Amino acid sequence: MTQLLTTRIGGLVLPNPVICGSGEPVMTESGVRAALAAGAAGVIAKSVNENPAGGRQLDRADYAFVGESLFNRSGLSQRDTRDWFASIAAIDRDAAKDGRFVAASIVYGSADGAVEIGGMARAAGLRVFELNVGAPHASEASPGAIVQETDPARLRTLVEDVRAAVGDMQLWVKLTGLSANLPALAVAAKAGGADSVCMMGRFMAVIPDLETLGPMLGTSAAYGGGWALPIVCRFLALSRRAVGAGFPLMGTNGVRGGGDVLRMGLAGASAVEMLSLVMHEGFQGLTRTIGEVEAFVAERGLTFAELVGRAADALTTYGEQPEMPGRWRDFVPAETLTER
Ligand SMILES: Cc1cc2nc3c(=O)[nH]c(=O)nc-3n(C[C@H](O)[C@H](O)[C@H](O)COP(=O)(O)O)c2cc1C
Repeated sequence: MTQLLTTRIGGLVLPNPVICGSGEPVMTESGVRAALAAGAAGVIAKSVNENPAGGRQLDRADYAFVGESLFNRSGLSQRDTRDWFASIAAIDRDAAKDGRFVAASIVYGSADGAVEIGGMARAAGLRVFELNVGAPHASEASPGAIVQETDPARLRTLVEDVRAAVGDMQLWVKLTGLSANLPALAVAAKAGGADSVCMMGRFMAVIPDLETLGPMLGTSAAYGGGWALPIVCRFLALSRRAVGAGFPLMGTNGVRGGGDVLRMGLAGASAVEMLSLVMHEGFQGLTRTIGEVEAFVAERGLTFAELVGRAADALTTYGEQPEMPGRWRDFVPAETLTER
């Protein structure tokens, strides 16, 4: 890849802004290697959890595509954490040769667990640790298996503790989509010593099935799709204001191609983590996406880095808009306007 797509997340300079997010496609070494071979700047390897209940949940996982939106309940890696981290650290060492990375990730169940697993990632020689404090499945998982942190003060303390455990690794915090408090959470993560935050996790949903008249998959489950992207972009833009343009943000949830990477970039994301597309289209979806971003910036004589935050910084308020009396009339059925 050329310099057109170069981006920086904390101490890492990446060849492009497309990261393969954590999930089942990167639950094996071959999956991680395939994501890198497809051109991803990095991979967040499938998350572990310190509580064996998190791994057992994988055996009850199920998935359904609703158009390009994915509705599923997931679980966590069942691999021994030390073995898994040793394996992905070996791939990370190779990836580093051309400026890319493989990150360890935890969907945490307790602060002690996050600290312990963070220490294991550091001992394995990994360079990036992603702490997911917002997995949507928390409300449905076995008690204590998955925690969702929505309180800024508690998040700051957690991040400080994990920062102490991971030393000078890159520490990224992935935030929930089930809170309107994201800018405050981003500020808290930064204050606690995070190098970047990624937002936002998927939403929990119930999809009544018109065939069976019951709930699809039988449970509430996580739901995400292209429709989520503008919501994520709003929180990216608001968070950019809260943390300042110098602190790198990452976007996730709803990226389905190069245009979406650019939209998240314009909203303030220096990189995106995408996953459902890989489940829908295969790893070549990453290659397609990177090619589309490159074609866009090349055509306009821009670089990706120059686009980051542009739309966010141009956001205005309702009160700043010019008055357009009667504009509403263009958006109602003719009957509404019939004079009597
Ligand atoms: C099947 C599945 C499994 C996932 N597992 C994890 C996980 O273990 N850890 C994590 O941090 N995120 C996990 N995610 C979230 C994704 O990494 C990603 O942030 C999310 O799906 C939104 O992006 P997308 O619209 O590109 O899929 C999972 C998502 C899906 C669909």
